[in-house]
Amino acid sequence: MMSAFATRLVDWQRRHGRSGLPWQVADPYRVWVSEIMLQQTQVATVLDYYPRFMARFPTVGELGRAALDEVLALWSGLGYYSRARNLHKAAQRIVTEHDGVFPQRFEQVLDLPGIGRSTAAAICAFARGERRAILDGNVRRVLARWGGIEGFTGGKAVENRLWTLAESLLPAASADMVAYTQGLMDLGSLVCTRGKPACGRCPLAADCVALRDDRVGSLPTPRPK
Ligand code: ADE
Repeated sequence: MMSAFATRLVDWQRRHGRSGLPWQVADPYRVWVSEIMLQQTQVATVLDYYPRFMARFPTVGELGRAALDEVLALWSGLGYYSRARNLHKAAQRIVTEHDGVFPQRFEQVLDLPGIGRSTAAAICAFARGERRAILDGNVRRVLARWGGIEGFTGGKAVENRLWTLAESLLPAASADMVAYTQGLMDLGSLVCTRGKPACGRCPLAADCVALRDDRVGSLPTPRPK
C-alpha cells in the first residue's frame, strides 16, 4: 500500500513534472554528472552545458583519464569549481578502484568525493529505482511545509526529523521511485517555491499542515539571526 502522499506525487509528476531531460536515463554516470551540475545551478543553465560535457566524456573512464584542465574548461561558466574537481577525482577513483564501472552499492556511491547522502540517494533512485530518500534544499521546504515542521531546517534536530519523514513517505514499489524522486524535486522548484508557492496547483494541498494552518509563508523557519 502506497501512502497517499506518494500516490499523489507520482501521479502529478507523470502529468505535470519534468520529462525528456537528457539525464533522465537509467545510467548512474549520466545521473551523477547531472546531479552535481544541478546542485547549485538551474535546470535551464545545466541544459546549456551538460550535452557538451557528456559528448566529450561519454563514460566515467574518459572523465577519469582526462586532464583536470580540460574538465575545468568544459565546466567554465557553471561556477563552484570544487564540484568539477571532485567529479574528476571521483572518476579517477572509479577507474582505479572500481575498474572504471560506476559502483552499484549506495555506501560505495556515498564514499566518493563530492557525493553526500541526498545525492547518493538520488543517483541510486534515478539510475536503479532503489528506495532511497532524498533531502535537498527544495525537498526540505516541501516536507517542512507539508508536515508543519518548525525550526531551522539546517539544524541537526530538524534535519533528522525531515530525514525520518522523508524515509516514511517513500513509495512501496521501486517501479515508482524515478517519478517519485523527480516529483519531489519538480514540486519544490515549480510549485512549492520559496517566494510565491502555487498551492492551488499542488497535489499535496489536501493534507498540507502549513496550508491548513496558514503557515505556508512562515515555513520553513528561517535561519536564526
Ligand atoms: N535538481 C537536482 N536534481 C534535479 C533533477 N534531476 N531534475 C530537476 N532538478 C533537479
